[in-house]
Amino acid sequence: MMIIGKGRAPGKVILFGEHAVVYGRPALAAPVTQVAAEAVVAQGPRGAGLTVWAEDLGRQVAVRDASPDDPLAAAARLTLAHLGLAEPDWRVTVRSTIPIASGMGSGAAVSAAIIRALADATNTQYPIPHLSLSPDAVSALVYEVEKLHHGAPSGVDNTVIAYEQPVYFVRGQPPQPFAIGRPFMLAIADSGIASPTRITVGEVRRAWEQAPARFEALFDRIAAIVEAARSAIAAGEPEDLGALMDQNHALLQEIGVSCAELDALATAARAAGALGAKLSGGGRGGNLIALVGPKTMDPVVTALRKAGALSVITTQVGA
Ligand code: MEV
Repeated sequence: MMIIGKGRAPGKVILFGEHAVVYGRPALAAPVTQVAAEAVVAQGPRGAGLTVWAEDLGRQVAVRDASPDDPLAAAARLTLAHLGLAEPDWRVTVRSTIPIASGMGSGAAVSAAIIRALADATNTQYPIPHLSLSPDAVSALVYEVEKLHHGAPSGVDNTVIAYEQPVYFVRGQPPQPFAIGRPFMLAIADSGIASPTRITVGEVRRAWEQAPARFEALFDRIAAIVEAARSAIAAGEPEDLGALMDQNHALLQEIGVSCAELDALATAARAAGALGAKLSGGGRGGNLIALVGPKTMDPVVTALRKAGALSVITTQVGA
């Protein structure tokens, strides 16, 4: 099978500001490059049209027959429309090492990998010189796919995955890559509880409708933490992030998106020497992130596993 196009996209973590970002507050997010979605394109049989084969999901989708809200088909369709391309006889195969429904953006990364692979294949198969999709274009296409399942996502996930660098994000504004004065290490623990973002975002929406003033005040306090974190990161004082992570986690508990398992992981990480810990992403499951140093990394990873984490990866934020 000859490969005619390839595309890749990393996972992501929200460092600070999830949920409040849906309500216009800023968030900080970073790519996690140890995990990724990868797509390859090959020629398919003549007349077969475009198919997408998602190995990990065990799903094969014929783009022309799939329902409008199928995310794999939607990523392919939107890309063809964006590139002004009639349906080719291609087969896209996509694989991902990003845990599904864990808050690491697996769905958005799969979409981004498919979009990039199709653009790459268009380059090799058609005489359009140097066609490449800008991060902005990839981000906008992924956002369209995300909307099918998430209702009204803020756009932070597609942005950080498409830009592949840490971003300060405010809904509706161009993303700002942010300065990292000194790199820092995170342990990312998967609680093993699949928790679709759509559900927690919907619950927060209903709670906000019931008590708007209370929730707006919580979101303002999260926004202040995001600004303080951005300054600490830029000033090369990542140690200060620990306390800010703990405070952000406490506010997410008040918002109602933590759960006993995430709280237990946070407690275990702190007891093992992490400088701070918080849930990351939609909550109620998914990931917990803990700030670790060279000496605390191993004990924190061990403690997180003992406290029930399905898997733990460590990642460096910044060069
Ligand atoms: C999910 O990664 C982040 C949330 O803030 C949802 C969103 O921004 O759309 C929970």
